[in-house]
Amino acid sequence: MEFKSVSDVKNKLEKADYITSKEIATVVFLAEATNKPILVEGPAGVGKTELGKAVARSLNRKMIRLQCYEGLDESKALYEWEYAKQLLYTQMVKEKISDVVTGSGSLSEAVDRIADQEDAFFSERFIQPRPLLQAIVSDDPVVLLIDEVDKSDPEFEAFLLEILSDFQISIPELGTKKAIKIPFVILTSNNYRDMSDALKRRCVHVYIDYPDREIEMRIVSLKTPGIQERLLENIVDAIRDIRKLDLKKKPCISETLDWAQSLMALQIEDLSFEVILATLNVICKYRSDSDKVRDYLEKNHTSGNAAWSISS
Ligand SMILES: Nc1ncnc2c1ncn2[C@@H]1O[C@H](COP(=O)(O)OP(=O)(O)OP(=O)(O)O)[C@@H](O)[C@H]1O
Ligand SMILES: [Mg+2]
Repeated sequence: MEFKSVSDVKNKLEKADYITSKEIATVVFLAEATNKPILVEGPAGVGKTELGKAVARSLNRKMIRLQCYEGLDESKALYEWEYAKQLLYTQMVKEKISDVVTGSGSLSEAVDRIADQEDAFFSERFIQPRPLLQAIVSDDPVVLLIDEVDKSDPEFEAFLLEILSDFQISIPELGTKKAIKIPFVILTSNNYRDMSDALKRRCVHVYIDYPDREIEMRIVSLKTPGIQERLLENIVDAIRDIRKLDLKKKPCISETLDWAQSLMALQIEDLSFEVILATLNVICKYRSDSDKVRDYLEKNHTSGNAAWSISS
């Protein structure tokens, strides 16, 4: 066991630049202790992918990432035969065939000798391992991030089950490969489609929501060194209020970070009404969302009020 306790997880993740709640740290601890994959769900930009990266950094492990998409198949996820090399090999066998059969006492011995050579055709030397196989055959334990698994097809999800429960892979020509070291698996999903019960059952499940105020402030201050406390509070409070509006795409942590960095670049110290309007495009990705925020601000803004104070 590499994490000693829940607080050890929290500290190690923090050292790896990931600020997290006790709840998420508990899930990471239990997943590691029980060798179960974690299925992370939640809205866009709340740190699902980053959790995988941070776990790898905190355990000092290499991270192997499988980015899922519609149409992703076993040849891209697991392994591919290297046809060009296999053909070259057949060519060589052809050229050397007389050397191979020279000295055979009988036809069947000659055939056996050729058959022995052919075995190499489907051998490991002609396999190009893709992320899943790489994670299974790695001599050192790795973190396997299966990112955006909801974008893959249900058939692919079904295929993942063997790996997730037994940490093994069947290769028809070579047999079953069991993990040398069990990888720490993290799957992320944006709820593009529901994951099957079979997949959920094999995982420890965690939902990452928008962070609470204190955590978001710590994330912003970590990623925006030198930011003034007052601006930091104003940014986070503003974002939290904007999230309450009925928007097509609510601002996530990435947007809070982008906004903080933009305001720092503009050398802004106070989040005035005008400043917010001028930088709205950093936090709103749809015209209709910008319009809603602008309306909201215009209705709630008290003139002369320099800082964000709409919620109060
Ligand atoms: N808890 C956290 N601590 C530090 N940084 C964080 C945290 N959560 C998110 N971030 C930062 O927020 C940004 C977005 O995170 P990430 O890409 O992991 O989101 P996501 O949930 O995977 O989004 P998507 O669903 O769009 O893929 C990254 O720059 C990441 O560094
Ligand atoms: Mg992601």
